[in-house]
Amino acid sequence: MSGKNCRDFFSFLFTKIILLKKPVRSKVQTRRKPFSGRGPKKSPVRESTAWDQAARWYDALVGDHGSDYQKDIIMPGAFKLMNLTKGDQVLDLACGQGVFSRFLSSKGMQVKGLDVSEELIGFARTRSKPSINYHLADARKPDTFKEAHFDVVVCLLALQNMEEIETIFQNVSRWLKPDGRFVMVVTHPCFRIPRQTHWGWDEEKKIEYRRVDRYASDLSIPIITPPVAGSSGHTLTHHRSLQTYFTALAGAGMWVEGLKEWASKKESQPGKRAKAENRARKEIPLFLSLCARPVPAKPDKKS
Ligand SMILES: C[S@@+](CC[C@H](N)C(=O)[O-])C[C@H]1O[C@@H](n2cnc3c(N)ncnc32)[C@H](O)[C@@H]1O
Repeated sequence: MSGKNCRDFFSFLFTKIILLKKPVRSKVQTRRKPFSGRGPKKSPVRESTAWDQAARWYDALVGDHGSDYQKDIIMPGAFKLMNLTKGDQVLDLACGQGVFSRFLSSKGMQVKGLDVSEELIGFARTRSKPSINYHLADARKPDTFKEAHFDVVVCLLALQNMEEIETIFQNVSRWLKPDGRFVMVVTHPCFRIPRQTHWGWDEEKKIEYRRVDRYASDLSIPIITPPVAGSSGHTLTHHRSLQTYFTALAGAGMWVEGLKEWASKKESQPGKRAKAENRARKEIPLFLSLCARPVPAKPDKKS
C-alpha cells in the first residue's frame, strides 16, 4: 500500500511523519520561575509543554470541526459508544484545541475540557462558546475536579501522548459517577506502531499485508512535531500493548464493557493493487476504542 492511503500513526492528522532516532524524556510538568525581586510580582510562568510548541500547527490542522478521520470515524464513533443523554456532564480529557468538546456541546451536553498545553487551551477557548469550561491542568493531578462529577469521561487520540496512564485512569475512575463510563480512542496498538509496523506487498499471493516487528514491549517513540523542515521540537508516542491498557484499567477499578475497531474509510486510486489495498485497509483496523465502567462497590457485609 502506498501514497496517501497507507500512512501510519498521525496519518489522519499529519501530512508527513518524522521520527527521531533516540528516545527522549518528555516534559509535561509545570515549573515556577524564581521571582527576581525587581519590579511588580509577575504571575508564575509555566514551562511550555511539548504540545505548546506544536499548538499553532495542530490547531490549523484540526480547525473548527476536525480532520477527515475525526469527522468521519472518530467523533461519531466515540459519540455512539458514549451513549449520552442530553444534559450529561462530560469531560473531554486531553481536549487539545477543543474539537470534540465543541461537537459534544452542539449535541446538548454539559462539557468540560482539560489539557496540559496552555497554547492549545488558548485556541480551544478562542474557538468555542463560553459555555464550554476549559481547564489548564495535568491529567495526572487528582484534584482538578470533584469526585464522582462526570457521567462520561472521554479521551480521543491522546493516551498515546500521555505518560503514566495508571495514574490517569485512577483519576478518571475518581471523577466518574458510580454508573459513569470512560470512552477512549487510540490508534490501534496491535497494527499501528510508529517504526514497528509497515504495509507490505506479497507478490506471490498478490496481497497487501501488515508487518508487525514489535508489539509486546511498551515503547516511547519521539516524533518531530510539527513535522516541518527545521522543526526541532518533538512529541512522544507511547506504544502500549492491550495487556498494559487492560491491566491499567483494572488497576483503577474499571472493567471494559465495549470494544470497537474502526477501519479507515479511504479508497485507493484505481490501479493493479487497488482491490488488495482496499481489502487490507478494511481487514486491519486503524483505531481501537474502548468503553469502560467503574466496578460497582461490593455491598458492606456488616449491613
Ligand atoms: C494528539 S493531541 C489530541 C487532542 C484532542 N483530543 C484531539 O483529538 O484533537 C494530544 C493531547 O494530549 C495532551 N496531553 C498530553 N499529556 C497530557 C497530560 N498529562 N494531561 C493533559 N493533557 C495531556 C496534549 O497537550 C495534547 O493536546
